[in-house]
Amino acid sequence: MIKGKRILITAGPTYERIDPVRFIGNFSSGKMGFALAEELEGQGAEVILVAGPVQLKTPEGVMRINVMSAKEMFEVAVDKFMTCDAAIMCAAVADYTPVEVENKKMKRAGDEVVIRLKPTKDIAAELGKQKNSNQVLVGFALETNDETFNAKRKLDKKNLDFIVLNSLQDKGAGFAHDTNKITIFDSDGSGLKYDLKSKQEVAKDIVAHLNSKL
Ligand code: CTP
Repeated sequence: MIKGKRILITAGPTYERIDPVRFIGNFSSGKMGFALAEELEGQGAEVILVAGPVQLKTPEGVMRINVMSAKEMFEVAVDKFMTCDAAIMCAAVADYTPVEVENKKMKRAGDEVVIRLKPTKDIAAELGKQKNSNQVLVGFALETNDETFNAKRKLDKKNLDFIVLNSLQDKGAGFAHDTNKITIFDSDGSGLKYDLKSKQEVAKDIVAHLNSKL
């Protein structure tokens, strides 16, 4: 049952600061995570939406916490997860962040500039370590190649209960679209393919699958 459950969602991109006016980001629109938040709220869940920098309206009744960087998203998600029944890791979290953040705007100088990057912490993997047997953890995988192999590897590595794969090879799927085409892989190895649908309809399918696990 979704009703009455407390569910954490991460959504959108993260921005990793280079200097006061520049960042490293990605094209995630946040639409899939916000559609999930709206659907879960509509079915009576208490939703905590940890959102990276996106200009989307907060669905009514949803508690939204805005964050900027992968580090901030990590801290909020870890803090909130303990009291949640499930978490859906929808955000496109930066894998690397600058080693040093310049406190003045970098000036144009010379031919090439090198920005050294260090890995960020993996939020999904951390929640996978912390989760108890009653909590359900859901991940996303956006792949361009070897989709099934990569999705199943992430499912295992991060200790997820299921993973939602979207392939950039499918037309209308992934970032910056209002539609999505997903396959859900369960931890028992089974896979369920869905048709191309609006992100609102896809959210319904994902929530129905989550419902069967709660
Ligand atoms: N994820 C996360 N924290 C990170 C990186 C990823 O919580 N620092 C989550 C995403 O929200 C998603 C899942 O892990 O649910 C898979 O993200 P993805 O970027 O596809 O996987 P990575 O482990 O970063 O692998 P790669 O970028 O090499 O494909």
